[in-house]
Amino acid sequence: MTHSNLPAYRPAQIALHWFVMVGVIVQIAIHEPMVRETTAQYRGVAPDPSDATLAMMHGLIGTLVFVAVLVRLWLRFRYGAPGHAQGTSSVQAAIASLVHNALYACLLAMGITGMLTRSGVANLGDLHFFINVAMFVLIVLHAGAAIFNQFVRKDGTLARMIPALRK
Ligand code: HEM
Ligand code: HEM
Repeated sequence: MTHSNLPAYRPAQIALHWFVMVGVIVQIAIHEPMVRETTAQYRGVAPDPSDATLAMMHGLIGTLVFVAVLVRLWLRFRYGAPGHAQGTSSVQAAIASLVHNALYACLLAMGITGMLTRSGVANLGDLHFFINVAMFVLIVLHAGAAIFNQFVRKDGTLARMIPALRK
């Protein structure tokens, strides 16, 4: 099947989608120094200075991801999305939309709970952790569905986010 005439996401939407994905992977990889520093902060003891750089990076990259998600949502409201691939049943379309909305909600909630915890307003570290687990499950489902649709159903779903796959 040719996908070159299928509607795709705008370049900015594509760039931000993959930026957010890389950001989330980095965040999960560097969370431990942030947890140690925050535990010390809320116990009122001095944090280990060797955790400072990576903890600062977790806050910085997380904030950039949060801003990128806000820009993505703005682009989504401004320009919309290409809609589901041809041949997608209404049930599949409803599940895909639900997962996309849940992913946006988790991304926003990660940023908000992280910032409130880091700034000392409220210790929402447990919530931050549980949302991260839920988001991880959704990401696995989401990526699995995209790969299945692209390579088994061959409906060009992934080509909407990876223009090089368009043919
Ligand atoms: C999508 C973006 C983010 C992801 C995927 C992420 C991921 C994580 C993970 C996996 C943990 C470890 C949770 C635990 O084991 O208890 C963590 C901890 C933490 N993160 Fe994030 N994070 C994100 C954004 C942020 C932001 C924007 C901030 C603040 C500016 C932040 C601040 C924190 C803090 C303070 C902790 C320690 C919480 C605790 O002590 O329990 N995070 N993050
Ligand atoms: C941190 C990881 C990820 C997050 C948070 C995420 C989030 C999202 C969201 C919220 C959308 C909906 C965009 C919109 O319509 O506004 C989307 C679309 C999409 N994502 Fe991801 N994604 C992630 C990783 C991946 C991966 C690993 C793949 C591929 C293997 C992928 C493939 C796609 C595709 C193909 C679409 C378009 C779906 C369609 O047109 O129906 N995503 N993603």
